Amino acid sequence: MGLNGDPFPYILFLMYFLLILHAKSKLVTRTTYVVSMDMAFMPKVFINHHNWYSSTIGSLKSANLASLDNHQSSPSLLYNYDHAVHGFAAHLSKHELEALKKPPGFVSASEEMTSTLHTTHTPEFLSLRSTSGLWLASNQGEDVIIGVIDTGIWPENKWKGTCEEGQDFNSSMCNAKLIGARSFYKGLIANEPNFGIRMKSARDMEGHGTLISSIVAGNYVEGTSLFGYATGTASGVAPHARLAIYKVFWDKSNYISDFVAAIDQAIADGVDVISASLGYTVESSFSLEEDFIAKVSFAALEKGTIDRWFAGTITLGNEEDIVGWGIFPGKVLLQNAPLVYPMILKSSDKMLNVPNSIIVRRREYARLESQAQLVARSNVLGAIIILDNPITIAMEDRNYFLCPCILISLDNARVLKQYIKSTDKPVANLTFQQTMMGIKPAPVVASYALRGPSPHTPCILKPDIMAPRSLILGACPPIIPVGEIRGRKQLYRDFTVSYGTSLACPHATGVAALLKGVHPEWSPAAIKSAIMTTTGHLDNTNSPIRDSGNGLQIASPLAMGSGHIRPNQALDPGLVYDATPQDYVNLLCSMNFNSAQILNFIGSNSYSCSSPSSGLNYPSYIVLLRKTRASSIIQNFQRTVTNVGQDVSTYKAMVTAPEGSAVMVSPEKLIFRKGNEKKSYNLTIRYEEKEQSSFGTHVWVEENGNHKVRSPIVITLDVFKTSTGLC
Ligand SMILES: *[C@@H]1O[C@H](CO)[C@@H](O)[C@H](O)[C@H]1NC(C)=O
Ligand SMILES: *[C@@H]1O[C@H](CO)[C@@H](O)[C@H](O)[C@H]1NC(C)=O
Ligand SMILES: *[C@@H]1O[C@H](CO)[C@@H](O)[C@H](O)[C@H]1NC(C)=O
Repeated sequence: MGLNGDPFPYILFLMYFLLILHAKSKLVTRTTYVVSMDMAFMPKVFINHHNWYSSTIGSLKSANLASLDNHQSSPSLLYNYDHAVHGFAAHLSKHELEALKKPPGFVSASEEMTSTLHTTHTPEFLSLRSTSGLWLASNQGEDVIIGVIDTGIWPENKWKGTCEEGQDFNSSMCNAKLIGARSFYKGLIANEPNFGIRMKSARDMEGHGTLISSIVAGNYVEGTSLFGYATGTASGVAPHARLAIYKVFWDKSNYISDFVAAIDQAIADGVDVISASLGYTVESSFSLEEDFIAKVSFAALEKGTIDRWFAGTITLGNEEDIVGWGIFPGKVLLQNAPLVYPMILKSSDKMLNVPNSIIVRRREYARLESQAQLVARSNVLGAIIILDNPITIAMEDRNYFLCPCILISLDNARVLKQYIKSTDKPVANLTFQQTMMGIKPAPVVASYALRGPSPHTPCILKPDIMAPRSLILGACPPIIPVGEIRGRKQLYRDFTVSYGTSLACPHATGVAALLKGVHPEWSPAAIKSAIMTTTGHLDNTNSPIRDSGNGLQIASPLAMGSGHIRPNQALDPGLVYDATPQDYVNLLCSMNFNSAQILNFIGSNSYSCSSPSSGLNYPSYIVLLRKTRASSIIQNFQRTVTNVGQDVSTYKAMVTAPEGSAVMVSPEKLIFRKGNEKKSYNLTIRYEEKEQSSFGTHVWVEENGNHKVRSPIVITLDVFKTSTGLC
């Protein structure tokens, strides 16, 4: 699937991106622009704005500006947008773009961008149970509609049906689960006319969209397993929710004009929650567009791991067992096979010349994945690979499991070496297909997780939360090979185990969908607040969650945001930090964007920029250190909480101040007399400039102990040197 958060896909993507740039300069004589228009300027002669847009493009055509750029073709209109933005996508030459900018009504034109995908036991790990909590309250997401914008869907997988006619996809395929499926590729074709689309329909050829859909809203499937691993009944986070699929990725290629069209359609279709786990590679000057993506994709998330471990057992000739990490799709694969330790081998070539044996080697600098491929394609039977930290490494290298390999720790390696030394003919049996539950500690912040602060919204602590990421059992199109034995066989199954950044998104989306089902009146900001203020901070050993990317130190909010998502607690948060679209506009207004850009972002001029504010009513606090050389600095945060708990309730402020700072909350007590009542307070941080980040918390604790509304406080270096100085 190649759609993960680890560096390799990014390198692939970079190469791919360069190829596209190359393709553009050779094949494409025009550029696609996403154009925002101000509806207020539509001349009265037009019956509607689609009419206005097509006439605008028509006039560019008749002005024959194309010849100025030596273009043979005519400008073309790709999409009309009505919801995500007001405007259209068009394929234009330089002179046509200039002409388009002249008449009143033009707001902005963003050049086409490509994007990359950021790349079931889970509901149980999240403590979702049908008899209590959020699943009971929401009836597992009954009738909530989730829009999944991704690589499409493999509709026969668990849903019998499809809607938009297309290649291998007919309208008889839609049903109560999959209520809609569409595909968007006009931007792709305009930019890469020679792109061979493999499957011109919403059918998923890559697996990512199918996997995401099953995590968000997959229904129960009895006896799900990947070759015997993780047997059980698989279900998504919101199993009763309905799905609308919007395919915008074509063999990992995606253009923002197609993405905006999908969002536009999803809003028009009335979906409740949108899942879009993709990231646009954008320069800082495009941060507004990235914020646009953020707006629709329900925030940047941080990921953790879940407490499932796929084991492989090595039974040594002396009957000693070593349990390691292994996920090869065969049962008892190797029996009485000779063990060959690499110290006696000089090069990797020679290593492969020990047929029918198990090689033991230390993971070298090469990626585990390439070592695994080497083994899979060689004559050796299998490999035992020694790692400093098998669990975290195993989770990063998603493809190693194609080989009959078992990863073991240094401690276990000592036992193994002792045995090899003790005998002339060391042998072992390798057993796979074992699943061990309750691995401790879990969760941990995955080492490849993206860390805050965000260069685009430094004034808001990012990431927001962490959600399970690694090792998710989900649906996968059967055309995606999931295993390979000795270079020959490719194995196909309906379910696969996948890893990657993007998997945190469907979890949070699923939880958001459940909350939306229970509290249809809650705004997206309220739902997000409920998820963020009720997170957990302890792993399953009751110790603080650790960060595998930082030497297993205690994870800071810069790594895990507010903490680990806890859906049942999010159902009843007590208080929420709500925010209106105008509040987000005020934030944009404070970020040095001009009003045209902001209009482009919000797609409506019914909001004003009259009170710019970086003080978004957000359930976290971040202070950026700026080397002002002042001895002591004061920063104030104004916040408003809404009572969504008991009508009459009293909350007291509890603070753990970051090291080297003093935090004051005023007032210290909030007394509510009715539901939905709002109360404001100030949180003031006095701190000294220093070189290190420090962290604290602020909690509103209900006097009867029923609710704890928790927010992280972060003081950190201003690594992005934000110029506005406003937050
Ligand atoms: C859809 O596909 C099924 C199975 O391939 C076929 O039997 C049916 O006639 C098709 N329906 C339409 C409307 O094309
Ligand atoms: C390995 O498997 C074979 C076949 O099942 C068995 O006879 C042998 O005893 C096993 N070896 C060990 C060390 O358990
Ligand atoms: C918070 O501080 C601002 C500015 O100092 C002040 O105007 C406001 O009244 C304060 N709000 C509360 C609830 O104390």
